[in-house]
Amino acid sequence: MGVVGLGHFVPPRIVTNQELESTLDTTDEWIRSRTGIHERRMAESDVCASDLAVEASLLALADAGVSPEQLGLIIVGTMTPDTMLPSTACLVQHRLGATNAGAFDLNVACSGFAYSMAVGCQFVRTGAFDYVLVVGADTMTRVMNWKDRGTCVLFGDGAGAVVLGPAGEGQGVLSIHLGADGSGGDSLCVPAGGGRTPGGTPGVPKSEFCLQMHGKEVFKFAVSVIGEAAAAAVSKAGLTPDDVDLFIPHQANVRIIDAAARRLGVPMERVFVNVDRFGNTSCGSIPLALSEAREQGRVKEGDLIVLVGFGGGLSWGAVAMRWGKKEALCPA
Ligand SMILES: CC(C)(COP(=O)(O)OP(=O)(O)OC[C@H]1O[C@@H](n2cnc3c(N)ncnc32)[C@H](O)[C@@H]1OP(=O)(O)O)[C@@H](O)C(=O)NCCC(=O)NCCS
Repeated sequence: MGVVGLGHFVPPRIVTNQELESTLDTTDEWIRSRTGIHERRMAESDVCASDLAVEASLLALADAGVSPEQLGLIIVGTMTPDTMLPSTACLVQHRLGATNAGAFDLNVACSGFAYSMAVGCQFVRTGAFDYVLVVGADTMTRVMNWKDRGTCVLFGDGAGAVVLGPAGEGQGVLSIHLGADGSGGDSLCVPAGGGRTPGGTPGVPKSEFCLQMHGKEVFKFAVSVIGEAAAAAVSKAGLTPDDVDLFIPHQANVRIIDAAARRLGVPMERVFVNVDRFGNTSCGSIPLALSEAREQGRVKEGDLIVLVGFGGGLSWGAVAMRWGKKEALCPA
């Protein structure tokens, strides 16, 4: 099974580093040199993860030539659902008119898309469903502490979606590698808003409902885990990093991507980067990058593509896939 259609959507409002300079003790130069980020997108206050997800999904379905009724399942990877209940996936299912689909959210922070792909693949592989819609969608600007310059400059809003369906022999998803280390949970977290400290608990500052991060710890973790996860997925597929045609890591920081690619031994010409224009869109990041890479002609028939996500949990996930023509992937 493999990707038979894909699409992405970002809100139109661009927030540049210069704009952040006016409200925060930071500089364009600091943000660019430490992260590679030039700008990010911000959703209007009435736009939520489901809205971005629906737009990306409509594009992916049209690209696949698959109707909403043909979907057996919708998985939305998100850490910023519209509401605690119902799930964002159910909102998407209703808006798409996917009347034959089950739907659920999957929260593995920024690894959410890689995990969602891994789960979605199983249903197609076993023949349980012909088509599964996998979406990564986040409005990270909603969980930012806009006074914390160490985090709020890094994130943005966006979504991407893929339709998974039957693939030709030797094509599509070849291997999956998932991992987690809960001992590092405190280094990237949103402490309040769940069962431990519900909204409305007296005396809890607003910042506890926002993303908090130990930047240096996460940086070190990311650099080592990206390379290890990618190498594990590639090796499970019986291949080596030399075989990788396009490496699409989670877009968090260009210095992380650069260091991880060097560790893995994949030159930057074979790495896709768009963090400069979108920042870290969490679950949106990988499908947004994959979709843009294809638009730019960077994804070719027969290419070995490796996707690697990492994030809170701590967690990580990698998917190795052989890109095939849609006709081959999705026989009539
Ligand atoms: C956040 C990150 C960019 C910080 O870069 P860094 O080189 O480690 O910088 P430091 O944390 O050492 O901070 C250096 C200084 O810059 C300051 N600083 C932090 N953010 C700043 C900003 N936006 N503008 C200006 N200065 C800033 C710090 O306060 C610190 O000042 P001090 O030395 O006076 O205390 C980096 O650690 C990182 O990218 N970590 C991973 C984050 C990530 O990807 N998270 C998501 C994973 S899914």
